Amino acid sequence: MEIIIRDNPQDCARVAAKIVAKYLRGKKGPVLGLATGGTPEGLYRQLISLYRAKKISFKNSTTFNLDEYVGLTHSHPQSYHRYMKEHLFDFIDIPEDKINIPDGTACDLRQTCLDYEARIKASGGIDLQVLGIGRNGHIGFNEPMGSLSSRTWIKILTENTIKDNARFFEDAGKVPRHVITMGIGTIMEARHCMVMACGWKKSQAVKAMIEGPVTAKWPASALQFHKRTTVVLDEAAASLLFHKEHYGWVEKNLLEWQNYEMP
Ligand code: F6R
Repeated sequence: MEIIIRDNPQDCARVAAKIVAKYLRGKKGPVLGLATGGTPEGLYRQLISLYRAKKISFKNSTTFNLDEYVGLTHSHPQSYHRYMKEHLFDFIDIPEDKINIPDGTACDLRQTCLDYEARIKASGGIDLQVLGIGRNGHIGFNEPMGSLSSRTWIKILTENTIKDNARFFEDAGKVPRHVITMGIGTIMEARHCMVMACGWKKSQAVKAMIEGPVTAKWPASALQFHKRTTVVLDEAAASLLFHKEHYGWVEKNLLEWQNYEMP
């Protein structure tokens, strides 16, 4: 794993945007995997600014979101369809037919999951998958103790994740218990994964993901087997890392072409 540590969430968003921009500029038809939640909001603001400054365009890109709640209409204020419109898609030039988000309102949820996998495959696969991480180490909505090779499917949220996400709803009782999420196996097939995490509340999960044993107890730890994962952390999220100084040392010694901060 490649670990990038910055002073604050704003600097994390800036470096994460540079990584996304690299794909948008460098590839003819980039396929981006996207996440929702509080963590990527700063990244999306940065991408919108870069787009407005005409430094990047999404017109040739395709996107696949990680997950969606089952049962929320696309216009529901807490649905991830609505989140993506309000935080990114309404402000950039991505063609509507290139946007893919799991459909939590589908009559046949199982078929919609199979179709989602087929669409990812048909796109040529995900070039860069943006990920947040839950306090319990989930990525997408792959909660602890699930299979580390799962595919897009219907999952049940833990009570703790429901409590964490209650902040976006009127109360925890309104948070759907079921979601559709790309599986760990689906995420592992992305050519490059970028995990973002900020704040001390994430520090234990971040430590388990990077320095713990690979275990279904901390699903993000599966990324230790991924061929190319970049983790972008603020100081608070990185605070429990045993090898923190080493990660800084590695970044200082990157060759120019390896460094995201170089033009
Ligand atoms: C959202 C997702 C989740 C979140 C995670 C962290 O699409 O896949 O795994 O990334 O729950 O959420 P925040 O960023 O709100 O702390």
